[in-house]
Amino acid sequence: MAFLHESVLPLTLPAPGDLDRIGVVAAQVRTPALIYDLDLLSAQVARLRSDTVAIAHVQLCFAVKANRNPDVLRHLAALGLGADVASPAELAAALAAGMFPIMATAPAWQGADLANLATAGVTPDCDNVSQVERWGAETLLPRQIGLRLRTALAPHTDPTRRPTSRFGVSLDAPELWEAIERYGLAISQLHVHTDVWADDAAIERLLDDLTVALQRLPDIERINLGGGMASLEATPARARQVWLQVAEAVRDWQVWRQRPLEIVLEPGLGIAGMAGYLVAAVVATEDEPDGTRLATLDASGWTLFPWVRPQPVLQIPIGTGASRPHDLAGNTCNEGDLLAHQVPLAPVQVGDRVVFAGAGAYVSSMYRAAHGMPVPGEWILQGEQWRQSPSGI
Ligand SMILES: Cc1ncc(COP(=O)(O)O)c(C=O)c1O
Repeated sequence: MAFLHESVLPLTLPAPGDLDRIGVVAAQVRTPALIYDLDLLSAQVARLRSDTVAIAHVQLCFAVKANRNPDVLRHLAALGLGADVASPAELAAALAAGMFPIMATAPAWQGADLANLATAGVTPDCDNVSQVERWGAETLLPRQIGLRLRTALAPHTDPTRRPTSRFGVSLDAPELWEAIERYGLAISQLHVHTDVWADDAAIERLLDDLTVALQRLPDIERINLGGGMASLEATPARARQVWLQVAEAVRDWQVWRQRPLEIVLEPGLGIAGMAGYLVAAVVATEDEPDGTRLATLDASGWTLFPWVRPQPVLQIPIGTGASRPHDLAGNTCNEGDLLAHQVPLAPVQVGDRVVFAGAGAYVSSMYRAAHGMPVPGEWILQGEQWRQSPSGI
């Protein structure tokens, strides 16, 4: 199974004290279950704020595509986070949670979606020229819009992967400028979402590209640097150094333009990834000739983890016996449905529970239905208190 963020997780693994709290809940909830730890969410937000403190006027907006559980979103809203939304359902979830401000970029907004964004006071970052045209032609919509800029992608071994993102517009496209002129639009926001954060030279190029874009677009008030920073945040010393580099560029832009510029960061994985856990129960076991213990669980890797890799962190009860490699398989008829491959565990038994870290982002929000299996219940943990939450799936 291919995991989009495979190289990113694990982030910082939970501290033993956090695992104890999670274990208490995990032993009691009906399986399969997702548990979101609000204290870990708060800690991640505090860390990101502290890492980016040198950037003047920075606003964190949680990428709701990563998790739209209403309690998670309300908690982030209470911490002062806005939202990044990519669909009508995500917009509704962000508004219901009271998240402000709301950023929006998606390749397929329809006309009605754009009008709904405007009604909610959201200025979308248009992903393509067709969207700019559609927005411009609706004369009752504000004349200010944002643009998502097309960026280069990091080199990749997959020959079918495009060298540039399929998202965003190129400032060199004449039809973009024709549409801006025809409809009397002013570009007030720029958005980029890239995978450059692991590469110093690519970060430098991105900042240079933004400088050029600012020269061509005099009305810019806000630059949104997107998400994708989880791997960066996993190495704190480098994160601090990169954010200082960004802060310096922002300072230069402000001095040159003689006015403030708001910087938006919209991480999803980096905030919520390690704040969520999956609890699954073992329903079948088998010992294989090569010494692997194959255990089937009552949850599926295929339906729950299409984007990220879960990591087993707890066995309940604590296992006894010598550790052996385990393949932890999901409950669908998909041959490749594994939650973990060759992980060392004390032999698990039918009825045992396994807790996986890394289930806070792109799990419930990316759930795919199969066999009509029940969706996992969602639970909130805060301090020692826990409660069931409405489903965000
Ligand atoms: C436009 C945009 N912003 C933010 C994010 C969040 O990225 P991450 O969860 O990797 O931080 C994504 C993820 O796909 C995205 O497409």
